Amino acid sequence: MKKLVVLTGAGISAESGIPTFRDSGGLWEGFRVEDVASPEGWQRNPALVLDFYNQRRKKALEVKPNRGHEILAELERHFTVVVVTQNVDNLHERAGSTHVIHLHGSLFESRSTKDERLVYPIEGWELNPGDACEQGSQLRPNIVWFGEQVPLMEVAAMHAQEADLFLVVGTSLVVYPAAGLINYVRYDTPKYVIDPNLPEVANRKFLKMIEEKASTGMEKIRQELLDLQ
Ligand code: APR
Repeated sequence: MKKLVVLTGAGISAESGIPTFRDSGGLWEGFRVEDVASPEGWQRNPALVLDFYNQRRKKALEVKPNRGHEILAELERHFTVVVVTQNVDNLHERAGSTHVIHLHGSLFESRSTKDERLVYPIEGWELNPGDACEQGSQLRPNIVWFGEQVPLMEVAAMHAQEADLFLVVGTSLVVYPAAGLINYVRYDTPKYVIDPNLPEVANRKFLKMIEEKASTGMEKIRQELLDLQ
């Protein structure tokens, strides 16, 4: 089977009811990014950060995958699909995708503030002050914050290099290194970008832009992808 690699961003979850980041005036649900998504914000006010992600987690549990997620999952019948997502929700998995790389971490995992190798699943929606790892240190959300390394970028880049088809869905392509993933794709690999507000992409060779929402855009190109399998 040919390999289909897909980079997704907040836009693919928009039709499920999760607001994107940059469509909301630079604030995330009324919070400043540096207060809730940076190591400095965590140092200043861990309770605020924990509560912010508790609310995001609660919301993520209330919503459902949409047609965009579902079509990507269905494509596993025809391709070896690797989903590289910047999203911290679990809608790809809930739609049935089996190989999902969470570049920016997951809402549904916590990790130790003492030893980053200690990662735990979060049952339910709450992670609270006082919740500790096995060594007694406070747990934090296992999310990649601004200014932190993106440890899964290397493996994502390896998949991108191997892609026979490459798809970008619902991302403004402004946050690096994720936005640079397309640069690892072979130049003659067919590439598609689906977004109602198309982002800037430098190299437009073998690239098709589809100015649509994730659900309708995925419906539109599904047959074209199947013809290339
Ligand atoms: N379908 C597809 N795309 C959509 C839809 C939709 N229904 N609605 C909006 N979009 C598009 C927007 O046009 C925009 O290009 O989704 C994109 C969302 O962009 P951002 O809000 O910047 O989200 P994203 O690219 O995922 O952000 C990257 O930045 O804030 C950090 O760590 C956070 O992972 C996030 C990263």
